[in-house]
Amino acid sequence: MAKDKPYPPQYYNDYLHLKKILDSQHLKSDEFGAHAHDEMLFIIIHQVYELWFKQIIFELDDFLSIFKENEINESHVGTAVSRLDRIIEIQKILIDQIRVLETMTPMDFLDFRDFLIPASGFQSVQFRLIENKLGLQPDKRFSYGGTHYRSYLKSSDDDEVKGSESSPSLFKLLEKWLERTPFLQWGKTSFWNEYASAVRTMIASDRHLIENNENLSEKEKQKHLDEYAKTESSFGVVLDQTQHNALVSKGEWRLSHKATQAALLILLYREQPILHNPHRLLTKLADVDELFTTWRYRHALMVSRMIGRKIGTGGSTGSTYLNQTAEKHRIFSDISALTTFLIPRSALPELPKHIVRNLGFYYDAGVKK
Ligand code: HEM
Repeated sequence: MAKDKPYPPQYYNDYLHLKKILDSQHLKSDEFGAHAHDEMLFIIIHQVYELWFKQIIFELDDFLSIFKENEINESHVGTAVSRLDRIIEIQKILIDQIRVLETMTPMDFLDFRDFLIPASGFQSVQFRLIENKLGLQPDKRFSYGGTHYRSYLKSSDDDEVKGSESSPSLFKLLEKWLERTPFLQWGKTSFWNEYASAVRTMIASDRHLIENNENLSEKEKQKHLDEYAKTESSFGVVLDQTQHNALVSKGEWRLSHKATQAALLILLYREQPILHNPHRLLTKLADVDELFTTWRYRHALMVSRMIGRKIGTGGSTGSTYLNQTAEKHRIFSDISALTTFLIPRSALPELPKHIVRNLGFYYDAGVKK
């Protein structure tokens, strides 16, 4: 017991407010006189999800407060990475616990489904806050039948979710931070010039290999070259500002050109000590994005088994709508797509000495220490 400490002793049940939590499962089926055993599981699993959502938001908010600063030093990046690490472990649990829900059969669900209408996970405020804090853009959301995603929320919830649309998101703050990367200019030349020339050399050598491959007929060579032209043009996203902008306006790329360059530099030179944490950060963000997408697909699969082609309790086309959101609601897909532009270590431009020196010492908004 904390005898000598100035804090009052705590009782487990009170500290955790268990009375409130454990008295929060009220079965609608009981209220309407048609007890359905599985409704307890249905309520508890949703409550558990919401508690984990709360923890995810808590971690995200801390991440956002770190990245709102104009100067982010190495240890701050390390803290931000550890916030993502925790979110990732929680996400794995979120995916896994769908299995518990699947012990409920579609017939068991039908016993109480009608009592819930029109409530739906579609109205989960915390889920929307997570999406918006991560950086899902309101105009990029897939809507069913023209229904706005906030239209089924109570007005106080609507205000909170709407507010989160305009606060700086993790995507935006990450982009700004990447744009501030001080290592893009290499004295008289730049990372960009050197990388572009390395890519051109690599492409010329690949073309040369195809053109001089004696095992291929002329027709086969042309086919390979046509295919290879697609790889060449994909480099336009990073090499050519105009092509990059065209993709951004088509909604096929989101990161600014400068931020894209910086992210690529981090991926290519991740062995440099000061780039370890930035590299981990980018990788973890791609993980978070991928795990949310996995959850969305997993939830959609579970839903299609549970309700078949019926509409959801919230009125959507059920699993069709959910599959579309899995496809379209990715936030950090640019980071995963950057691997397209990696080139072999042997072809990488050598870092100038003064850059190597700086990469060993600091990584912030260009402030010398
Ligand atoms: C029997 C189990 C479940 C069924 C049949 C089901 C069904 C659905 C359906 C059909 C939708 C689309 C909106 C609608 O028409 O209602 C939806 C959305 C959603 N559900 Fe579930 N769900 C189940 C369990 C869960 C659980 C345990 C969670 C955890 C919180 C959850 C979270 C969500 C979320 C966040 C959305 C919105 C997704 C988005 O708009 O991208 N669902 N659900």
